[in-house]
Amino acid sequence: MHLPATEKALDEVLSKAVPFTTFITFLLVAFGGLELAKRRYPELINPSRLIETFKDDEDDRMPDFRWSPWAGAQRRLPAILKASDHLNDGKHHLLLAATGSVATIKIPNIITALSNHPNLSIRLLLSESAVNFLKAQSPEQPALSQIAKMKNVDGIYLDQDEWRKPWIRGDSILHIELRRWADLMVIAPLSANSLAKVVQGFSDNLINSVVRAWDATGMIDQARPGVPLPYVEGKKKGIMVAPAMNTAMWHHPVTAEHMKRLSDDWSISNGGWFEVLSPIQKELACGDTGSGAMHDWKLVVAAIEDRLQLGRGQEKAGLE
Ligand SMILES: Cc1cc2nc3c(=O)[nH]c(=O)nc-3n(C[C@H](O)[C@H](O)[C@H](O)COP(=O)(O)O)c2cc1C
Ligand SMILES: *[C@@H]1O[C@H](CO)[C@@H](O)[C@H](O)[C@H]1NC(C)=O
Repeated sequence: MHLPATEKALDEVLSKAVPFTTFITFLLVAFGGLELAKRRYPELINPSRLIETFKDDEDDRMPDFRWSPWAGAQRRLPAILKASDHLNDGKHHLLLAATGSVATIKIPNIITALSNHPNLSIRLLLSESAVNFLKAQSPEQPALSQIAKMKNVDGIYLDQDEWRKPWIRGDSILHIELRRWADLMVIAPLSANSLAKVVQGFSDNLINSVVRAWDATGMIDQARPGVPLPYVEGKKKGIMVAPAMNTAMWHHPVTAEHMKRLSDDWSISNGGWFEVLSPIQKELACGDTGSGAMHDWKLVVAAIEDRLQLGRGQEKAGLE
């Protein structure tokens, strides 16, 4: 049987088009797969992009994280926390939190400086605003995936982690487990907004829920055997805060009202549970000069080492 001419022509076109489209589909699938793999496992594709190098700069021991377009993509979810699983781990438990101030970029420095303490466990909490400062946008602002790999960091928690799994009876509640787990909570920096929420009792995010659920009496959470708590002769937990804000915000009258609560009414020295690391005077990131900048991060580190009785690392002795 003879094929009509048009059918023949169509047959010819199809015989070329089919392998051509198969080839294009193959390319699309291959590139798509590679792109997904890059996002999921950046270190496999290009190890040098994610390597954290630590430059030894005498002035500011800044971890130098290489900028990477993929680094921000993934945060490995922390395991479900049960404080009772960590009672006898022989470690001091630091709950380190940061809220939406530019001083959040000092978090990597603080963690690096604490990395020479072998018996320290750090869990990091970030407010939704604070996360914006740690997206690998500059060498001093690593992504959370990079911070998660730093020494002593055993978990990074964001607001959405409270609701990771629909709650049923018997499940743990993250903000309560974090409070039970912590020996010391440090909020550095504490933003004006979070300061206001702390003193007014708001608990609308993970950090404020931990603060609101804190054992103000010191009777609920006991010291673990062999691990002294930071305050009242090793018997009481506490929350250390380092406020950081624009000079105008700091001098606003409402700040003094809020600060009176933390550094007076509820302070450790008055039988409470807060310790304040006061802001310092300097030129702020916004260009204004004056008070309101976060307490020097190295002094924040020293205060943590002192309260947790970590001893000063040998490496750091050279820094003085
Ligand atoms: C770039 C940038 C820098 C900021 N720096 C500060 C700051 O140093 N202190 C502060 O109190 N608020 C600062 N803010 C405003 C807070 O991020 C904002 O009030 C936010 O709602 C705080 O939320 P949080 O307390 O839940 O983290 C800054 C905002 C931006 C966009
Ligand atoms: C952790 O190490 C420091 C310094 O060596 C020590 O003083 C402290 O007692 C240790 N803490 C625990 C819980 O083992």
